[in-house]
Amino acid sequence: MQRSLVLLKPDAVERKLMGQIIARFEAKGLRIVAMKMLRVTPELAKQHYAEHVEKPFYPGLEAFIISAPIVAMAVEGLEAITVIRNLLGATSGLKAAPGTIRGDFSCSRQMNLVHASDSEESAARELDLYFEASDFCDYTPRLTPVIQADDE
Ligand code: CMP
Repeated sequence: MQRSLVLLKPDAVERKLMGQIIARFEAKGLRIVAMKMLRVTPELAKQHYAEHVEKPFYPGLEAFIISAPIVAMAVEGLEAITVIRNLLGATSGLKAAPGTIRGDFSCSRQMNLVHASDSEESAARELDLYFEASDFCDYTPRLTPVIQADDE
């Protein structure tokens, strides 16, 4: 079982796509175990995108990510990191395949609607930036037997 940090970025919030995007995660059978709406500060943006801070596109990326509220979610499931990145599609909405979230709703490299952790290490670091231990809601996933086999 893995957890990933998923962000619905300002474009998802402003374009009123939150519900449709969250529905994709739910329909897939993933579990949302923490969720909050917040405004990213420049400091948080620099921490979150530490690996991009020196890149030429960073100033635009920071201006975008702080421009309106976002929704942060912790999403759990078997092989969740890969499963979620496949649901999102390629980074650029211009290249993402139809059927993926970005492929269906985005036509931009920057305004690509959703962020998801790219490894277990990134997920641990990123979840720590947005959530405290008490934010996670543990509940019995009663539908699991009709979503996955016991030995998966
Ligand atoms: P995300 O998955 O949030 O991770 C880093 C973000 O930087 C990425 O989605 C894009 O929104 C953005 N990004 C990546 N490459 C570029 C680029 N070349 N120009 C502008 N934005 C980019």
